[in-house]
Amino acid sequence: MTTQKGLKLVERDDDGVDTAFRADVLDGLSQPQKAIPARWLYDDAGSQLFEDITQLPEYYPTRAETEILQTRSGEFAELIGEGRAVVEFGSGSSVKTPLLLSAIAPSAYVPLDISGDFLRAAAADLAEKFPGLPVYPVEADFMREVELPTAVADQPKLGFFPGSTIGNMVARTAVDLLRNMRETLGVGAQLLIGMDLIKDEEVLVAAYDDAAGVTAEFNYNLVRRINRELNGDIPLDTLSHEARWNDDNARIEMHLVAGGDIAFSVDGQDFTMRTGETIHTENSHKFNRRTANMLLLAGGWEPQARWLDKGGQFSLLLAEAKPPRSAP
Ligand code: AVI
Repeated sequence: MTTQKGLKLVERDDDGVDTAFRADVLDGLSQPQKAIPARWLYDDAGSQLFEDITQLPEYYPTRAETEILQTRSGEFAELIGEGRAVVEFGSGSSVKTPLLLSAIAPSAYVPLDISGDFLRAAAADLAEKFPGLPVYPVEADFMREVELPTAVADQPKLGFFPGSTIGNMVARTAVDLLRNMRETLGVGAQLLIGMDLIKDEEVLVAAYDDAAGVTAEFNYNLVRRINRELNGDIPLDTLSHEARWNDDNARIEMHLVAGGDIAFSVDGQDFTMRTGETIHTENSHKFNRRTANMLLLAGGWEPQARWLDKGGQFSLLLAEAKPPRSAP
């Protein structure tokens, strides 16, 4: 897969193995606290399992954010206005993006995604729903600064980053991303971003450890992927899924907990785990008004407005990239 600039997005070795995946897994399993970056949860099976998660009764974020988008269209129209090019970071879901586009009458839609397949599917879906709206898909890693199509260069921009995906990043990475978004979109741009809220621990833990076991499958799928793609023999039946609330860092963590002492190999390297030891597979940070604002400001975005769903579970924030200004 290559970008318009010819940069390789996914590097594969002669066996077709994603070299970044192998490096992350081997490095992560060698740490005192074993940890694998959450982005590797999303192969085809993992992406489908995540879609299934969004439909679970315990997993409130998707429903709550959709409710905000459904009920606040008048306010979006007022504060965002017509004629902006909407740049979505990640390919849009078939539900949320149309709600936004119908509310604000944009000049163009620019979905950014590292996966060409998802990108093309999302672009085709949107083009069909909004005939007459120019759609310019860009295959790119949105964690970096992205060169937007020249057709939208002079149009005012609105970045759209729903789902609280920002919560899956540690603060330093989240700030880097927000700064890159500012570079991509330019001064004067707005950003509409979803951020999940801090709430009762039981509600949070249930959302990430559902009764039907779908989130557990999502976590186990990472082990299946490692065993399949990296020639591993991690004994999945000895690992169990755990969702734990880390209060100091205001985040839900997903772990795979060893139910006994185990030894396994991945890509020819040997590893061991003692009973109770874990592989940390995901962070999902939660916010309140102040921490959300602080994160946006650290990334160069001035908060403009904030909306919650009726149940007060999830927030959608609008922010603006103001010109740099000197200290008070
Ligand atoms: C994609 N992301 C915002 C989800 C979340 O809630 O952090 C991923 C997820 N992991 C387990 N359940 C959902």
